[in-house]
Amino acid sequence: MFHRILPFSSTFRTACAVGSAGALASTFSYSAFAFASPETPPEKGTASPPKLQRRQGAAPKPGEPVYTKEQVSEADGVGGRPMWITYRDGVYDVTEFHRIHPGGDLILQGVGGDVSAFWDIWAYHHHAPLVGKYLEQLRIGALKEYTAVEESTEEEEEENDPYESEPVRDINVQTVFTERPYCSETPNAVLGVSYLTSAEALYVRNHAPVPDCAWAPLDESRLSHAQHHEVIFETVCVDADTRGAQDAAAGVDAAAADADTDSAFTVAQLQAQYGTTTITSILQCAGNRASEDIAATGDSGFTGSPFETITQGMLGNAQWSGVRLADVLPSLYPAQCAAALKHGEGKWHVVFEGADGYSASTPLARVLRRENDCLLCTQMNGQPLTADHGYPMRALLPGVAGARNVKWLQSVSIQRTPVDAPWNSYYYKNAKAEQIQALPLQSLILEQKQKATNGNEETAIEVSGVAYSGGTGNAIAKVEVSTDGGQSWIDATLKVDEVKEDGSHRNFGWIRWEASLPEVKTSSVCCRAIDTEGNTQPAISPKERGYLYNGWQTVQVPMHN
Ligand code: MTE
Repeated sequence: MFHRILPFSSTFRTACAVGSAGALASTFSYSAFAFASPETPPEKGTASPPKLQRRQGAAPKPGEPVYTKEQVSEADGVGGRPMWITYRDGVYDVTEFHRIHPGGDLILQGVGGDVSAFWDIWAYHHHAPLVGKYLEQLRIGALKEYTAVEESTEEEEEENDPYESEPVRDINVQTVFTERPYCSETPNAVLGVSYLTSAEALYVRNHAPVPDCAWAPLDESRLSHAQHHEVIFETVCVDADTRGAQDAAAGVDAAAADADTDSAFTVAQLQAQYGTTTITSILQCAGNRASEDIAATGDSGFTGSPFETITQGMLGNAQWSGVRLADVLPSLYPAQCAAALKHGEGKWHVVFEGADGYSASTPLARVLRRENDCLLCTQMNGQPLTADHGYPMRALLPGVAGARNVKWLQSVSIQRTPVDAPWNSYYYKNAKAEQIQALPLQSLILEQKQKATNGNEETAIEVSGVAYSGGTGNAIAKVEVSTDGGQSWIDATLKVDEVKEDGSHRNFGWIRWEASLPEVKTSSVCCRAIDTEGNTQPAISPKERGYLYNGWQTVQVPMHN
């Protein structure tokens, strides 16, 4: 049995416990494997990550106390002692703060010492406006031995850089929000050109450096190398009291549920035992349309961060191949799967953990329903996954927020509660503080232009875009377009012919649409989708902590005259 304490792989955990940049760098020694395998598409863009931009700490306060490193090391939170950290020249008391730390208990790994090495990995600390505000509040003094000279030299930084071997990305097809961790969206002009989005163009949302396992050695193809990748399947136990109460509620036999089913399978074994299938699905970040959400409903957690400008490109549509979770999980966890199917979502959860330390969970019942087409995925558009998109294996949960589609999969576990990881417990939650799972019905305009006129033709606008039903997997019945703010609507033409015939049970892929609008009196156009159950989008969708915006999208059309 495995008892998970933190959402970290053991190697990563050990490195962090040591807490020095050198130790971290040796764990994150990507360089030996960080070269392109034969199938890697030609690489363009910048060859090395831009220099690390560390944030300043809080400014010293006049007359503040000065602490030695030794004093700080004693404030390690053990046995009720306070919890202090240092960053650059400052000492910060996080004893109370650790309870509300967005990253949860991960902060405990840094207490009693310098957090720079952690922040160089979880580099969002260097961008997030909130971090600056918290530092101001938490500073309790200055670090005695600190001199700016102590900070690592440029060469040392390069040597120990956890981001030293990031993939080379094609910045012509991606708009970059942050380099460390790498986060991007796909511009409209690229997103709209084809039914399937290419791996090079698909948005990337990383939270840490791309891990070692994302690379095949130079002398082996990614296809063959992926076959040896091993995924651990675990059951996470809880203490007897909690178990008793939860199992009574979930109607499951605790002894059966906690039977020691821990095992490991290579990709080759999973494929041989369960077979592979191909399905089509969009992949969308829950934060897509964040800037429209802010414009429509006011500030969100994205305001002031590099992500406040997200338009609609944290989205793509692809064919994904892999092993069906609906085949794998019932054979490994029969008791839990039976209980989950009987009692529905919320009773059991499947946790996916990536080799970068990221993890997230989804109700087991959703993943078990065969028609939801959930995969342990190894290929995108017929090619092995790329390093950025989770090679050698990722979870691919159609219609579910991107955050739950864990990349670089190293373990899958079943437990009674959602996993207590920052991306599950703090981020990617809705207004009711629930983990976001299903995506909403959506339609987007990717291109709008005024039809060329020769003076005799009436002014017309051509609009095109995509629509998808999100978590329901319903087909899109129609997309409507309006030029009078939604008082009247015109049907768009759906490009149904290009939808792929594959193993998909439902409609988790997008459908492209186009419309031609005659006699336009205004330059503003909006759209909405309606699915086969009659669901439609609201004019403005309610605030969900800045996520999941699906109000009618309005765009301005550049008019020639
Ligand atoms: N999986 C791991 N291991 N690490 C991550 O940072 N990011 C998640 C998810 N899976 C993430 C992850 C988020 S928030 C999103 S939106 C999707 O991956 C993005 O997938 P992509 O980068 O392949 O487009």
